[in-house]
Amino acid sequence: MCGIIGYIGFRKASEILSDGLKALEYRGYDSIGISTYNHATKEISIKKDVGQIKEVSKKLEFEKMTGNIGIGHTRWATHGVPCLENAHPHSDCTGNVVIVHNGVLENYNKLKHELKLNHRFASNTDSEVIAHLIEDELKYSKLKDVYSAFKKAISRLKGSFAILAMIKGEERVFFAKLKSPLVLGVGSNENFAASDMTPIVKYTKKMIPVDNNEFGYFNQFNIYLENESGAIDLEKRMETIDWTPQMASKGGYPYFMLKEIYEQRDVIDQILTSDVSKGQELIRDYEKINIVACGTSYHAGLILKYLLNKYKNKLSDTFIASEYPFVAYPDSKTLVVAISQSGETADTLEALRFAKKRGAKLLSLTNVNGSSIPRFSDEVIYLNAGPEIGVAATKTFTSQIAVIYKIIFGGSIGKKIKDILISSYDAFEVIDRISEKIYKSTDVFFLGRGISYPIAMEGALKLKELSYIHAEAYPGGELKHGPLSLIENGVPVFILAPNDATARKIHGNLKEVKSRGGIIISLTDVDYVADDSEHVIPILSDKKNPDLSIFSMLLPLQYLSYRVAILRNLDPDKPRNLAKSVTVE
Ligand code: M6R
Repeated sequence: MCGIIGYIGFRKASEILSDGLKALEYRGYDSIGISTYNHATKEISIKKDVGQIKEVSKKLEFEKMTGNIGIGHTRWATHGVPCLENAHPHSDCTGNVVIVHNGVLENYNKLKHELKLNHRFASNTDSEVIAHLIEDELKYSKLKDVYSAFKKAISRLKGSFAILAMIKGEERVFFAKLKSPLVLGVGSNENFAASDMTPIVKYTKKMIPVDNNEFGYFNQFNIYLENESGAIDLEKRMETIDWTPQMASKGGYPYFMLKEIYEQRDVIDQILTSDVSKGQELIRDYEKINIVACGTSYHAGLILKYLLNKYKNKLSDTFIASEYPFVAYPDSKTLVVAISQSGETADTLEALRFAKKRGAKLLSLTNVNGSSIPRFSDEVIYLNAGPEIGVAATKTFTSQIAVIYKIIFGGSIGKKIKDILISSYDAFEVIDRISEKIYKSTDVFFLGRGISYPIAMEGALKLKELSYIHAEAYPGGELKHGPLSLIENGVPVFILAPNDATARKIHGNLKEVKSRGGIIISLTDVDYVADDSEHVIPILSDKKNPDLSIFSMLLPLQYLSYRVAILRNLDPDKPRNLAKSVTVE
């Protein structure tokens, strides 16, 4: 996935890049590096190493790097293990061309093989070929100007990329994009490029999202952006965003995840202002609805399916986005709803591409303005949750579900959602105690039925991704068809038992677990379930609409995974091997 950033202006580039990479670290954090160019001395320097920005920038003294032009990178390894050689930026044989890349080059092996005759490679990455290709074009092709050589080199790449390049002697940063996110920030006497706007909002609110197959360059005062049809009108493309730098800071909390759990009580009003009318209209007009999403967003998709089938009598199904092209048959009568907080998830985008080719109508639910998925869709509903930095989806999951409820039940549902959500913070004290009991476990199970089952899945996903404890969710009724053999003395089992039509049956499953020695922890407001439980996380049900009860389980389950990660001495903002925005398939 990786995060990239580029800068030219009147400030010290190394400071902008170090600071920016802190904001981008959620995209990957195996290794980090920056390169600066001092146009006065014509010196390019590169510093990089394995580790996170805090340690590496201190150890290598990034602040000593001079120059007002620079590019930086934080890595999530795809090709080549995380090590010094594979860290970006990469350079050509001469050190005159330096690049950072986010994405995956599918033809890098072939290119490397061709280039090997005349070039020395220093890493095992796919990305390094870009620097040598540019060097090759500059040296051997008849192209006189540097930008044409850059474009020619880029035209040979297959796969996905957002690339920033610096070339000695040039007071500009060159860029290109295909399938990996890239946004330009337009400042006053300074310009920026980055994988997303979080590192840029501090300096400017004027953003230009770059589309696929677009490339260009920027200097301190101007930006040039083009595609195969020619130059792009920047004024028309420019968006002014309303995110503030404070929104992307920890605001006194030790971790972003904790901040993002707590701020849900404040952002819920803003989330509920989302304009869902287009979604309601499309759902009315289409009989067949396919929902595509990944991970946490997939769980939100399951909730949407449940509500569409129950309340709107629609033929709908939810698909894991990466499976969609192999199992689904959308056509012009299908509405495809993509759910993605980042708006950049490659699997979801591919599912949409597949659906578009077959003539389907595309609607997306996303949190990030100007990101790729809404730009590719026919219609979009924004979630308005503000930036989410912790790798684990928390407030954006709540926002997805709140917006889905608004689509189905209309705006009047908002007050009840808010009341139930806010009351659920009361459970945090109990969760502190439960976390102490379970944090050394090796396996944890979550059982739910009906609309609570996707929430059980989300509880298990959160716990495993943050604490590295094996966690699984099952619909209560499935237990006896296999997984029950895993239940033995002392295995914690979370039972999601709201006061709805599933209560009696899930209570039966509780008994099955209890008689095999499992520790019962229930999220319930049903007396007979509570009586049979060792620990109870109190929840609230709405008598008129029992489906609202899920809003009292979201925060407790998010907080549980956070607490367990802390007790296990893990960083909840940066779980191993993961990244926030998954821009590779
Ligand atoms: O940005 P998206 O919602 O498309 O991301 C999809 C998943 O990668 C994401 O929900 C992931 O499962 C969560 N970060 C897990 O907490």
